[in-house]
Amino acid sequence: MTLTQAEKAAVVAIWGKIAAQVDALGTESLERLFSSFPQTKTYFPHFDLSQGSAQLHDHGSKVLGAIGEAVKNIDNITGALATLSELHAYILRVDPVNFKLLSHCILCSVAAHFPSDFTPEVHAAWDKFLSKITSVLTEKMF
Ligand code: HEM
Repeated sequence: MTLTQAEKAAVVAIWGKIAAQVDALGTESLERLFSSFPQTKTYFPHFDLSQGSAQLHDHGSKVLGAIGEAVKNIDNITGALATLSELHAYILRVDPVNFKLLSHCILCSVAAHFPSDFTPEVHAAWDKFLSKITSVLTEKMF
């Protein structure tokens, strides 16, 4: 899965705005994930997942921070996320289906915060970008 130059540019452009709100968007994406798809909570038995929880906030920042690393290394996402790929595949063993759910929640959060930037083209580019991240984080699973 390769992003075109135009798709990469669309991802990078809106990231400039997301980066200023990484904590809020990360937390909101996880809140959406856990409330719309409660089965995903089973991976976090050791977390306090209630609204306003510090653990939820910290984890949301980490997840969006990793996405920021992928944006910065958009031509080498596999290399940028190699350690996370091993963590999710070998240690956490997260079923790949959950990545689609989280990607959907990230897209909803971005769309809700930046409605006028979230054109169909930007939507499509982000969808492809998050699919690329998903394939990198799940490729070692099998
Ligand atoms: C940990 C990113 C998808 C479950 C992490 C960490 C990051 C991260 C940055 C912290 C690693 C560290 O502390 O060294 C991502 C990204 C994802 C993704 C970018 C996809 C866009 C998922 C999904 C699940 C999941 C779909 C399960 C529903 C976990 C768990 C941890 C973790 C259980 C360990 C939490 C802890 O004990 O601190 N992830 N993740 N991740 N992730 Fe993911």
